[in-house]
Amino acid sequence: MNTQLTWYGHAALGLKTGGFDVLVDPYFSGNPAASARAADLPADFILVTHGHGDHVGDTVAIAKRTGALVVSNFEICNWLGKQGVKTHGQHLGGGHLHPFGYLKLTLALHGSALPDGSYGGNPAGFLLTTNDGRKIYMAGDTGLFGDMRLIGEEELDLAVIPIGDNYTMGPADALRAVKLLQPKHVIPIHFNTFDLIAQDAVAWAEQVERETGAKVHLLRPGQSYTVA
Ligand code: NI
Ligand code: MN
Repeated sequence: MNTQLTWYGHAALGLKTGGFDVLVDPYFSGNPAASARAADLPADFILVTHGHGDHVGDTVAIAKRTGALVVSNFEICNWLGKQGVKTHGQHLGGGHLHPFGYLKLTLALHGSALPDGSYGGNPAGFLLTTNDGRKIYMAGDTGLFGDMRLIGEEELDLAVIPIGDNYTMGPADALRAVKLLQPKHVIPIHFNTFDLIAQDAVAWAEQVERETGAKVHLLRPGQSYTVA
C-alpha cells in the first residue's frame, strides 16, 4: 500500500498511509502559503513537532472536530490535554507502534515554547516507518546537527527538511544535511511562506542532485508525492 504525502504549505504535511489520514504540524489559519482549510481536512492522527504557533497551528480545532489522536512530546500533550484533546505523549529517542506505523521522535535543534508562553518541552523531528516498511524522516524545525548521520543509517526512503534559513537550516546546511541523511528522495519545506525565509528551491535542488545521490521533489503547496 503506497504512502502519499501532501505539502500544504510552510511545514504542514498530510500523509495517507495504511488507510489512515495523518496530519503533521497543521498550520492553516493565518498561514499565507496554506493550500487548504483546517475545517476541510480529515485526520485520524495529528503529529506536532514542537510548540511554535506555525506548527501547533490548528491542532486543537482539527482534533476536536475529527477526534484525531495527537502525538507529540509529553509537555505539548499535557497542554493539549487540558484543552480536551486526546493525546499520546512520547519523547526524544522513543518510538511507538501506532496503527499508521512505528513513529520515533528524533533530535531537533530549535525551541518549543507554546503560543501562550507555556513550556513546550524539547522540539522534535519524526522518523516514521510505515506499515509497508518505508522510512520517512520529517526533520521539523532544526539546525544542522552531526547526529543526522545516525538517522541516515536507517536507510531513509524520504527526508522532508527545512531550507528556509533564519529559523532553521538554510540551503547550504540543508545540503550538508542531505549528505549526512543519504535519503533516496528529499522534499524541502519551511521556505517561501514569508519574505524572511524566501529561497531559490530550484537552485538548491540542482545542487543537491549534483552533489548527492538524492532525488529532490519540489512540491507546490497542495501537491502530493507518492513515496516510492
Ligand atoms: Ni519553530
Ligand atoms: Mn517553524
